[in-house]
Amino acid sequence: MNFYQFVQTILFKLDPEKAHKLSLNCLQFLYRLGGSKIFNQPISPLTVMDLHFQNPIGLAAGLDKDADYIDGLAMLGFGFIEIGTVTPKPQPGNPTPRLFRLTESKAIINRMGFNSKGAEYVARRLEKTHYQGIMGINIGKNKETPLDHAIDDYIYGFRYLSPYAHYITINISSPNTEGLRNLQQEDFLVPLLSALKKEQAQLFLQQKKYVPLVVKISPDLTPDELLALPQIFLNQQIDGIIATNTTTTRTGIEHIALSEEIGGLSGAPLLPASTDVLAILHDALGDKIPIIASGGIMDTESGERKKRAGASLLQIYTGLIYRGPDLIHQLANLF
Ligand SMILES: Cc1cc2nc3c(=O)[nH]c(=O)nc-3n(C[C@H](O)[C@H](O)[C@H](O)COP(=O)(O)O)c2cc1C
Repeated sequence: MNFYQFVQTILFKLDPEKAHKLSLNCLQFLYRLGGSKIFNQPISPLTVMDLHFQNPIGLAAGLDKDADYIDGLAMLGFGFIEIGTVTPKPQPGNPTPRLFRLTESKAIINRMGFNSKGAEYVARRLEKTHYQGIMGINIGKNKETPLDHAIDDYIYGFRYLSPYAHYITINISSPNTEGLRNLQQEDFLVPLLSALKKEQAQLFLQQKKYVPLVVKISPDLTPDELLALPQIFLNQQIDGIIATNTTTTRTGIEHIALSEEIGGLSGAPLLPASTDVLAILHDALGDKIPIIASGGIMDTESGERKKRAGASLLQIYTGLIYRGPDLIHQLANLF
């Protein structure tokens, strides 16, 4: 049993959300004690979206929603960190329990519902971090904002948080905010992307800073919806894609305890669907728009599958929970 397996045995006895907070607080405490000397930074540099990454392995959104633990997480060796989803105004998210471990399937179901301390809080946190690496900020809309005003929330998030970001991801694919995933349909998507691209251009004129715009998509799109995306992304000159968010399907885990909980499924069972989406997008786009793979990367084999399907960068969340920080180093060696 390695050190992480020992820590995991204790953490997995606790309620998942309590274990989450406890482990992140411990990590941040370790950082303050000078813990960065214990960990090596995997070096496997590459340039994507004109940004220079120390290595291609990133932390996926949702683990550090409010930028409270960046320095502790960076210490583990990530080549980039994506915080969020951040909503314009603070909101509590869904009632607990809202996070479930499906240990035998190496999976998680969550229905957090964008619990966020809001853009202003996150900006203050980002001013305090010592982290020098690539910072992605994932933005969303408040629950109370109707879909036909969603653009206002995304523009606000983009404008307010861009000064702190190397890239901004728009999350239009979380299953836990009612109607959010409709924003992936052409009628909503085109006006949203073109408004954000205008904002991006304006920001560049004013501040001489180009902040790439990345779109995070769902693995549950219909074939027609998915096939429409490459042309929309090319027309709008989107800078990057994250494929994918969590799924509402339960393929392969139908009879597992807790699988009937409502929410987004992540981890090992998500690998096939999210890799299919990645491969379809990469077939259509070639290298015109880089794709960041997210979904079920639990070991080097799944990391290799993503690379073969066309991923430029990888992001992990559930794999980190089940495998610990060694996974970052193992995956970085693949590139
Ligand atoms: C508890 C939890 C919370 C998440 N919250 C967010 C979020 O706020 N925004 C987002 O874009 N993705 C969120 N995700 C999705 C992850 O970023 C990732 O795309 C997904 O879990 C698939 O990767 P994985 O199989 O490596 O976990 C969340 C995932 C989990 C497990």
